[in-house]
Amino acid sequence: MIDNKLAVAIVGCGGMGGGHAIAIASGTGNAIWQTDDARGRAWEGDMNTDISQKMTLAGIYDIAPARQQWAAERGYYNYESFEAVLADERVDIVLVATPNHLHKDMCIAAMKAGKHVLCEKPVTPTSSELEEILAVAKETGKIFYPRQNRRWDKDFLIIKKIYDEDLLGKTFNIECRVLGSRGIPGDWRGVKEYGGGMMLDWGVHLLDRLLIMVPEKIKKVFCHLTNITNDEVDDGFKMHITFESGLTAVIEVGTCHFYNLPLWYIAGNHGTAYINSWACDGKMFRLTSWEDKDATPILAGAGLTKTMAPRGGNSVEELDLPVIDFDNNELYSNLCDVINGKAKQIVTGEQALRVLKLMEAGFESSEKGVVIDFE
Ligand SMILES: NC(=O)c1ccc[n+]([C@@H]2O[C@H](COP(=O)([O-])OP(=O)(O)OC[C@H]3O[C@@H](n4cnc5c(N)ncnc54)[C@H](O)[C@@H]3O)[C@@H](O)[C@H]2O)c1
Repeated sequence: MIDNKLAVAIVGCGGMGGGHAIAIASGTGNAIWQTDDARGRAWEGDMNTDISQKMTLAGIYDIAPARQQWAAERGYYNYESFEAVLADERVDIVLVATPNHLHKDMCIAAMKAGKHVLCEKPVTPTSSELEEILAVAKETGKIFYPRQNRRWDKDFLIIKKIYDEDLLGKTFNIECRVLGSRGIPGDWRGVKEYGGGMMLDWGVHLLDRLLIMVPEKIKKVFCHLTNITNDEVDDGFKMHITFESGLTAVIEVGTCHFYNLPLWYIAGNHGTAYINSWACDGKMFRLTSWEDKDATPILAGAGLTKTMAPRGGNSVEELDLPVIDFDNNELYSNLCDVINGKAKQIVTGEQALRVLKLMEAGFESSEKGVVIDFE
Protein backbone atom coordinates (compact mmCIF):
# COMPACT_ATOMS: atom_id res chain seq x y z
CA MET A 1 0.00 0.00 0.00
CA ILE A 2 1.09 3.57 -0.62
CA ASP A 3 -0.82 6.38 1.14
CA ASN A 4 -3.48 3.84 2.10
CA LYS A 5 -4.16 3.03 -1.54
CA LEU A 6 -3.52 -0.18 -3.45
CA ALA A 7 -0.14 0.21 -5.16
CA VAL A 8 0.18 -0.92 -8.78
CA ALA A 9 3.40 -1.81 -10.61
CA ILE A 10 3.08 -2.02 -14.40
CA VAL A 11 5.20 -4.60 -16.15
CA GLY A 12 5.51 -3.83 -19.86
CA CYS A 13 5.02 -0.11 -20.32
CA GLY A 14 4.48 0.09 -24.08
CA GLY A 15 1.37 1.41 -25.75
CA MET A 16 -1.09 -0.22 -23.36
CA GLY A 17 1.07 -0.18 -20.22
CA GLY A 18 1.79 3.50 -20.88
CA GLY A 19 -1.95 4.16 -21.02
CA HIS A 20 -2.41 2.38 -17.71
CA ALA A 21 0.43 4.39 -16.17
CA ILE A 22 -1.15 7.71 -17.11
CA ALA A 23 -4.63 6.55 -16.11
CA ILE A 24 -3.57 5.25 -12.70
CA ALA A 25 -1.02 7.95 -11.85
CA SER A 26 -3.56 10.68 -12.67
CA GLY A 27 -6.21 8.96 -10.54
CA THR A 28 -8.79 9.70 -13.22
CA GLY A 29 -8.72 6.40 -15.05
CA ASN A 30 -8.11 8.44 -18.20
CA ALA A 31 -5.13 8.23 -20.48
CA ILE A 32 -4.56 10.90 -23.04
CA TRP A 33 -3.25 9.92 -26.44
CA GLN A 34 0.51 10.36 -26.39
CA THR A 35 2.26 11.37 -29.58
CA ASP A 36 5.61 12.18 -28.04
CA ASP A 37 6.62 8.76 -26.74
CA ALA A 38 9.16 6.54 -28.46
CA ARG A 39 6.53 4.31 -30.07
CA GLY A 40 4.29 7.27 -30.77
CA ARG A 41 1.43 5.94 -28.73
CA ALA A 42 -0.18 4.98 -25.46
CA TRP A 43 -3.63 3.43 -25.42
CA GLU A 44 -6.52 4.42 -23.22
CA GLY A 45 -6.75 3.22 -19.65
CA ASP A 46 -10.11 2.42 -18.12
CA MET A 47 -11.87 5.61 -18.80
CA ASN A 48 -13.63 8.05 -16.54
CA THR A 49 -13.40 6.18 -13.28
CA ASP A 50 -12.32 8.16 -10.26
CA ILE A 51 -9.80 5.77 -8.76
CA SER A 52 -7.81 8.44 -6.95
CA GLN A 53 -8.82 7.14 -3.51
CA LYS A 54 -8.42 3.47 -4.37
CA MET A 55 -5.20 2.86 -6.29
CA THR A 56 -1.93 4.54 -7.06
CA LEU A 57 1.08 3.92 -9.30
CA ALA A 58 4.15 2.48 -7.57
CA GLY A 59 6.18 2.38 -10.78
CA ILE A 60 6.82 0.60 -14.04
CA TYR A 61 9.21 -2.02 -15.36
CA ASP A 62 10.07 -2.26 -19.05
CA ILE A 63 13.13 -3.70 -20.77
CA ALA A 64 13.20 -1.01 -23.47
CA PRO A 65 15.35 2.03 -22.58
CA ALA A 66 13.03 4.28 -24.61
CA ARG A 67 10.09 3.26 -22.46
CA GLN A 68 12.09 3.71 -19.26
CA GLN A 69 12.90 7.21 -20.42
CA TRP A 70 9.25 7.84 -21.33
CA ALA A 71 8.28 6.87 -17.78
CA ALA A 72 11.08 8.86 -16.14
CA GLU A 73 10.09 11.99 -18.05
CA ARG A 74 6.65 11.72 -16.50
CA GLY A 75 7.99 11.18 -13.02
CA TYR A 76 7.10 7.48 -12.85
CA TYR A 77 9.48 5.27 -10.88
CA ASN A 78 11.45 2.76 -13.00
CA TYR A 79 12.07 -0.63 -11.39
CA GLU A 80 15.42 -2.15 -12.30
CA SER A 81 14.10 -5.65 -12.84
CA PHE A 82 10.97 -7.78 -12.63
CA GLU A 83 12.42 -9.27 -9.44
CA ALA A 84 12.67 -5.77 -7.96
CA VAL A 85 8.93 -5.31 -8.64
CA LEU A 86 8.16 -8.57 -6.84
CA ALA A 87 10.45 -7.67 -3.93
CA ASP A 88 8.76 -4.33 -3.31
CA GLU A 89 6.49 -5.02 -0.36
CA ARG A 90 4.43 -1.91 -1.03
CA VAL A 91 3.23 -3.34 -4.35
CA ASP A 92 -0.23 -4.94 -4.09
CA ILE A 93 -1.06 -5.38 -7.77
CA VAL A 94 1.17 -6.34 -10.68
CA LEU A 95 -0.38 -5.17 -13.94
CA VAL A 96 0.97 -7.35 -16.76
CA ALA A 97 0.99 -5.54 -20.13
CA THR A 98 3.82 -7.28 -21.94
CA PRO A 99 3.40 -9.17 -25.25
CA ASN A 100 1.05 -12.14 -24.84
CA HIS A 101 3.58 -14.99 -24.65
CA LEU A 102 5.13 -13.48 -21.50
CA HIS A 103 1.92 -13.21 -19.49
CA LYS A 104 1.78 -16.67 -17.95
CA ASP A 105 5.18 -16.77 -16.27
CA MET A 106 4.86 -13.19 -15.05
CA CYS A 107 1.37 -13.73 -13.61
CA ILE A 108 2.42 -16.91 -11.83
CA ALA A 109 5.61 -15.35 -10.42
CA ALA A 110 3.67 -12.30 -9.22
CA MET A 111 1.02 -14.34 -7.40
CA LYS A 112 3.66 -16.57 -5.84
CA ALA A 113 5.35 -13.38 -4.58
CA GLY A 114 2.07 -12.42 -2.87
CA LYS A 115 0.76 -9.93 -5.43
CA HIS A 116 -2.66 -9.69 -7.01
CA VAL A 117 -2.60 -9.60 -10.81
CA LEU A 118 -4.40 -7.55 -13.42
CA CYS A 119 -3.47 -9.13 -16.74
CA GLU A 120 -4.01 -7.70 -20.19
CA LYS A 121 -6.04 -9.63 -22.73
CA PRO A 122 -5.63 -12.20 -24.10
CA VAL A 123 -4.48 -13.37 -20.69
CA THR A 124 -2.64 -16.25 -22.40
CA PRO A 125 -2.42 -17.57 -25.96
CA THR A 126 -3.78 -21.00 -24.90
CA SER A 127 -6.33 -22.33 -22.42
CA SER A 128 -3.84 -24.75 -20.85
CA GLU A 129 -1.59 -21.82 -19.87
CA LEU A 130 -4.53 -20.06 -18.25
CA GLU A 131 -5.40 -23.23 -16.35
CA GLU A 132 -1.90 -23.12 -14.85
CA ILE A 133 -2.44 -19.52 -13.79
CA LEU A 134 -5.83 -20.27 -12.26
CA ALA A 135 -4.34 -23.17 -10.29
CA VAL A 136 -1.76 -20.79 -8.79
CA ALA A 137 -4.43 -18.20 -8.04
CA LYS A 138 -6.34 -20.86 -6.12
CA GLU A 139 -3.23 -22.09 -4.32
CA THR A 140 -2.05 -18.59 -3.30
CA GLY A 141 -5.50 -17.04 -2.72
CA LYS A 142 -4.49 -14.07 -4.88
CA ILE A 143 -6.87 -12.28 -7.26
CA PHE A 144 -6.26 -12.92 -10.94
CA TYR A 145 -8.18 -10.34 -12.97
CA PRO A 146 -8.32 -10.54 -16.80
CA ARG A 147 -8.57 -7.10 -18.39
CA GLN A 148 -11.54 -7.47 -20.70
CA ASN A 149 -12.21 -3.74 -20.77
CA ARG A 150 -14.40 -3.69 -23.87
CA ARG A 151 -17.36 -4.98 -21.86
CA TRP A 152 -17.92 -1.33 -21.06
CA ASP A 153 -17.94 -0.10 -24.66
CA LYS A 154 -21.11 1.85 -25.30
CA ASP A 155 -21.93 0.14 -28.60
CA PHE A 156 -21.90 -3.22 -26.82
CA LEU A 157 -24.03 -1.95 -23.93
CA ILE A 158 -26.65 -0.71 -26.41
CA ILE A 159 -26.80 -4.12 -28.11
CA LYS A 160 -26.88 -5.86 -24.73
CA LYS A 161 -29.87 -3.76 -23.68
CA ILE A 162 -31.68 -4.57 -26.93
CA TYR A 163 -30.98 -8.27 -26.37
CA ASP A 164 -31.69 -8.35 -22.61
CA GLU A 165 -34.98 -6.48 -22.93
CA ASP A 166 -36.14 -8.22 -26.14
CA LEU A 167 -36.60 -4.81 -27.79
CA LEU A 168 -36.73 -6.54 -31.20
CA GLY A 169 -38.78 -9.49 -30.00
CA LYS A 170 -36.93 -12.78 -29.75
CA THR A 171 -33.38 -12.26 -31.05
CA PHE A 172 -32.41 -14.85 -33.65
CA ASN A 173 -29.10 -13.51 -34.98
CA ILE A 174 -26.34 -11.23 -33.68
CA GLU A 175 -23.51 -10.02 -35.89
CA CYS A 176 -20.51 -8.05 -34.70
CA ARG A 177 -17.56 -7.16 -36.88
CA VAL A 178 -14.53 -4.92 -36.70
CA LEU A 179 -12.96 -4.27 -40.08
CA GLY A 180 -9.71 -2.41 -40.62
CA SER A 181 -7.57 -1.84 -43.68
CA ARG A 182 -4.02 -1.75 -42.35
CA GLY A 183 -3.11 -5.40 -41.87
CA ILE A 184 -1.65 -6.61 -38.56
CA PRO A 185 0.42 -4.02 -36.67
CA GLY A 186 4.08 -4.55 -37.52
CA ASP A 187 5.17 -5.61 -34.04
CA TRP A 188 4.93 -8.83 -32.00
CA ARG A 189 1.26 -9.11 -33.06
CA GLY A 190 2.46 -10.56 -36.38
CA VAL A 191 4.58 -13.29 -34.75
CA LYS A 192 3.04 -16.62 -33.79
CA GLU A 193 5.38 -17.45 -30.91
CA TYR A 194 4.60 -14.08 -29.27
CA GLY A 195 0.87 -14.83 -29.28
CA GLY A 196 0.14 -12.76 -32.38
CA GLY A 197 -2.82 -12.83 -34.75
CA MET A 198 -6.14 -11.10 -34.85
CA MET A 199 -8.16 -13.88 -33.23
CA LEU A 200 -6.14 -13.40 -30.03
CA ASP A 201 -5.93 -9.64 -30.40
CA TRP A 202 -9.48 -8.58 -31.29
CA GLY A 203 -11.40 -11.85 -31.31
CA VAL A 204 -10.89 -12.13 -27.57
CA HIS A 205 -12.82 -8.89 -26.98
CA LEU A 206 -15.71 -9.68 -29.32
CA LEU A 207 -16.15 -13.25 -28.09
CA ASP A 208 -15.87 -12.26 -24.42
CA ARG A 209 -18.72 -9.79 -24.86
CA LEU A 210 -20.90 -12.23 -26.77
CA LEU A 211 -20.48 -14.89 -24.10
CA ILE A 212 -21.40 -12.61 -21.21
CA MET A 213 -24.39 -11.28 -23.11
CA VAL A 214 -25.91 -14.62 -24.12
CA PRO A 215 -26.37 -16.89 -21.07
CA GLU A 216 -26.54 -20.10 -23.06
CA LYS A 217 -24.40 -23.07 -23.93
CA ILE A 218 -22.76 -23.03 -27.35
CA LYS A 219 -23.57 -26.03 -29.49
CA LYS A 220 -21.66 -25.49 -32.77
CA VAL A 221 -18.72 -23.43 -33.99
CA PHE A 222 -17.57 -22.94 -37.56
CA CYS A 223 -14.69 -20.60 -38.30
CA HIS A 224 -12.57 -19.47 -41.18
CA LEU A 225 -9.28 -17.68 -40.46
CA THR A 226 -7.73 -15.43 -43.11
CA ASN A 227 -4.10 -14.99 -44.16
CA ILE A 228 -4.44 -12.27 -46.77
CA THR A 229 -1.56 -10.04 -45.72
CA ASN A 230 0.84 -12.60 -44.23
CA ASP A 231 1.28 -16.34 -43.80
CA GLU A 232 2.40 -16.51 -40.18
CA VAL A 233 -0.67 -15.55 -38.15
CA ASP A 234 -4.33 -14.95 -38.92
CA ASP A 235 -5.04 -11.39 -40.03
CA GLY A 236 -8.76 -11.91 -39.49
CA PHE A 237 -11.50 -14.51 -39.17
CA LYS A 238 -15.21 -15.12 -39.44
CA MET A 239 -16.77 -17.33 -36.78
CA HIS A 240 -20.32 -18.71 -36.89
CA ILE A 241 -21.69 -19.74 -33.51
CA THR A 242 -24.92 -21.60 -32.77
CA PHE A 243 -26.26 -21.45 -29.23
CA GLU A 244 -28.41 -24.09 -27.54
CA SER A 245 -31.67 -22.24 -28.29
CA GLY A 246 -30.85 -21.95 -32.00
CA LEU A 247 -29.75 -18.31 -31.69
CA THR A 248 -26.85 -17.68 -34.06
CA ALA A 249 -23.98 -15.20 -33.96
CA VAL A 250 -21.43 -14.15 -36.53
CA ILE A 251 -18.22 -12.60 -35.24
CA GLU A 252 -15.80 -11.17 -37.78
CA VAL A 253 -12.45 -9.41 -37.61
CA GLY A 254 -10.72 -8.18 -40.74
CA THR A 255 -7.65 -6.09 -41.48
CA CYS A 256 -7.83 -5.81 -45.28
CA HIS A 257 -11.18 -4.08 -45.86
CA PHE A 258 -11.40 -0.73 -47.57
CA TYR A 259 -15.13 -0.22 -47.06
CA ASN A 260 -16.85 -0.87 -43.76
CA LEU A 261 -19.97 -2.81 -42.79
CA PRO A 262 -21.94 -2.05 -39.61
CA LEU A 263 -20.18 -2.81 -36.35
CA TRP A 264 -23.37 -4.51 -35.13
CA TYR A 265 -26.40 -6.00 -36.86
CA ILE A 266 -28.96 -7.68 -34.60
CA ALA A 267 -32.18 -9.30 -35.75
CA GLY A 268 -35.25 -10.35 -33.78
CA ASN A 269 -38.62 -11.70 -34.89
CA HIS A 270 -40.14 -8.21 -34.46
CA GLY A 271 -37.33 -5.95 -35.54
CA THR A 272 -33.81 -5.24 -36.64
CA ALA A 273 -31.12 -2.83 -35.41
CA TYR A 274 -27.69 -1.77 -36.53
CA ILE A 275 -24.84 0.30 -35.17
CA ASN A 276 -22.47 1.61 -37.78
CA SER A 277 -19.44 2.56 -35.74
CA TRP A 278 -18.02 3.30 -32.28
CA ALA A 279 -19.78 6.67 -32.51
CA CYS A 280 -22.90 4.53 -31.91
CA ASP A 281 -24.70 5.87 -34.96
CA GLY A 282 -27.51 3.49 -35.79
CA LYS A 283 -31.25 2.82 -35.72
CA MET A 284 -33.85 0.27 -34.67
CA PHE A 285 -36.67 -0.79 -36.98
CA ARG A 286 -39.61 -2.38 -35.20
CA LEU A 287 -42.58 -4.19 -36.65
CA THR A 288 -45.95 -2.60 -35.83
CA SER A 289 -47.97 -5.04 -37.90
CA TRP A 290 -46.96 -8.24 -39.68
CA GLU A 291 -49.70 -7.58 -42.24
CA ASP A 292 -48.64 -5.03 -44.85
CA LYS A 293 -51.60 -4.24 -47.08
CA ASP A 294 -49.60 -1.63 -48.99
CA ALA A 295 -46.96 -4.09 -50.13
CA THR A 296 -46.26 -3.73 -53.82
CA PRO A 297 -43.61 -5.46 -55.91
CA ILE A 298 -40.37 -3.64 -56.71
CA LEU A 299 -38.10 -4.09 -59.66
CA ALA A 300 -35.12 -6.18 -58.56
CA GLY A 301 -32.60 -6.58 -61.33
CA ALA A 302 -34.19 -8.53 -64.12
CA GLY A 303 -37.44 -9.25 -62.31
CA LEU A 304 -40.05 -8.13 -59.80
CA THR A 305 -40.18 -9.09 -56.13
CA LYS A 306 -42.71 -8.50 -53.40
CA THR A 307 -40.94 -10.81 -50.94
CA MET A 308 -37.91 -8.54 -50.82
CA ALA A 309 -39.72 -5.21 -51.17
CA PRO A 310 -38.90 -2.89 -48.24
CA ARG A 311 -41.69 -2.16 -45.78
CA GLY A 312 -43.07 1.32 -45.34
CA GLY A 313 -44.14 3.26 -42.26
CA ASN A 314 -47.48 1.45 -42.09
CA SER A 315 -45.95 -1.70 -40.72
CA VAL A 316 -42.49 -0.74 -39.40
CA GLU A 317 -41.48 2.09 -37.10
CA GLU A 318 -38.00 3.64 -37.18
CA LEU A 319 -36.64 4.32 -33.69
CA ASP A 320 -33.52 5.75 -32.09
CA LEU A 321 -31.26 3.27 -30.36
CA PRO A 322 -31.82 2.92 -26.61
CA VAL A 323 -29.93 5.38 -24.45
CA ILE A 324 -27.21 4.05 -22.19
CA ASP A 325 -26.76 6.05 -19.04
CA PHE A 326 -23.05 5.38 -18.80
CA ASP A 327 -19.81 7.24 -18.88
CA ASN A 328 -17.40 5.15 -16.93
CA ASN A 329 -15.62 1.84 -16.91
CA GLU A 330 -15.71 -0.05 -13.64
CA LEU A 331 -12.77 -2.38 -14.21
CA TYR A 332 -10.02 -0.74 -12.11
CA SER A 333 -12.54 0.12 -9.46
CA ASN A 334 -13.99 -3.38 -9.34
CA LEU A 335 -10.51 -4.88 -9.01
CA CYS A 336 -9.83 -2.68 -5.96
CA ASP A 337 -13.20 -3.49 -4.43
CA VAL A 338 -12.63 -7.23 -4.94
CA ILE A 339 -9.22 -7.02 -3.26
CA ASN A 340 -10.77 -5.08 -0.39
CA GLY A 341 -13.52 -7.71 -0.04
CA LYS A 342 -16.28 -5.28 -1.04
CA ALA A 343 -17.41 -6.65 -4.40
CA LYS A 344 -17.62 -9.69 -6.64
CA GLN A 345 -15.20 -9.96 -9.52
CA ILE A 346 -16.90 -8.79 -12.73
CA VAL A 347 -14.38 -10.30 -15.16
CA THR A 348 -13.30 -13.75 -13.98
CA GLY A 349 -10.59 -16.21 -14.96
CA GLU A 350 -13.25 -18.84 -15.68
CA GLN A 351 -14.93 -16.53 -18.18
CA ALA A 352 -11.58 -15.91 -19.87
CA LEU A 353 -10.98 -19.66 -19.99
CA ARG A 354 -14.27 -20.27 -21.82
CA VAL A 355 -13.36 -17.60 -24.38
CA LEU A 356 -9.92 -19.14 -24.93
CA LYS A 357 -11.52 -22.55 -25.47
CA LEU A 358 -13.92 -21.01 -27.97
CA MET A 359 -11.02 -19.43 -29.85
CA GLU A 360 -9.26 -22.80 -29.87
CA ALA A 361 -12.42 -24.36 -31.32
CA GLY A 362 -12.25 -21.63 -33.98
CA PHE A 363 -8.62 -22.49 -34.82
CA GLU A 364 -9.48 -26.19 -35.03
CA SER A 365 -12.55 -25.57 -37.18
CA SER A 366 -10.57 -23.44 -39.60
CA GLU A 367 -7.69 -25.88 -39.84
CA LYS A 368 -9.89 -28.92 -40.46
CA GLY A 369 -12.67 -27.14 -42.33
CA VAL A 370 -15.29 -28.66 -40.05
CA VAL A 371 -18.04 -27.67 -37.61
CA ILE A 372 -16.96 -28.22 -33.99
CA ASP A 373 -19.38 -29.46 -31.31
CA PHE A 374 -18.50 -27.12 -28.46
CA GLU A 375 -20.29 -27.56 -25.11
N1 LIG B 1 -7.32 -4.25 -23.46
C1 LIG B 1 -7.05 -3.61 -24.60
O1 LIG B 1 -7.91 -2.99 -25.19
C2 LIG B 1 -5.64 -3.67 -25.14
C3 LIG B 1 -5.21 -2.75 -26.12
C4 LIG B 1 -3.89 -2.85 -26.56
C5 LIG B 1 -3.05 -3.84 -26.06
N2 LIG B 1 -3.52 -4.72 -25.12
C6 LIG B 1 -2.66 -5.79 -24.60
O2 LIG B 1 -1.60 -5.22 -23.85
C7 LIG B 1 -0.42 -6.02 -24.00
C8 LIG B 1 0.69 -5.14 -24.55
O3 LIG B 1 0.30 -4.62 -25.81
P1 LIG B 1 0.92 -3.24 -26.36
O4 LIG B 1 0.10 -2.82 -27.50
O5 LIG B 1 1.10 -2.29 -25.23
O6 LIG B 1 2.35 -3.74 -26.88
P2 LIG B 1 3.68 -2.88 -26.94
O7 LIG B 1 4.59 -3.63 -27.81
O8 LIG B 1 3.36 -1.46 -27.26
O9 LIG B 1 4.21 -2.90 -25.42
C9 LIG B 1 4.79 -4.04 -24.83
C10 LIG B 1 5.90 -3.55 -23.91
O10 LIG B 1 6.41 -4.67 -23.19
C11 LIG B 1 7.82 -4.47 -23.06
N3 LIG B 1 8.44 -5.76 -22.75
C12 LIG B 1 8.72 -6.78 -23.60
N4 LIG B 1 9.31 -7.78 -22.92
C13 LIG B 1 9.38 -7.39 -21.62
C14 LIG B 1 9.86 -8.00 -20.45
N5 LIG B 1 10.39 -9.23 -20.45
N6 LIG B 1 9.77 -7.32 -19.28
C15 LIG B 1 9.24 -6.08 -19.25
N7 LIG B 1 8.78 -5.44 -20.34
C16 LIG B 1 8.84 -6.11 -21.50
C17 LIG B 1 8.24 -3.89 -24.39
O11 LIG B 1 9.49 -3.23 -24.29
C18 LIG B 1 7.08 -2.95 -24.68
O12 LIG B 1 7.34 -1.63 -24.20
C19 LIG B 1 -0.80 -7.18 -24.92
O13 LIG B 1 -1.19 -8.29 -24.15
C20 LIG B 1 -2.01 -6.63 -25.68
O14 LIG B 1 -2.88 -7.63 -26.17
C21 LIG B 1 -4.79 -4.64 -24.66
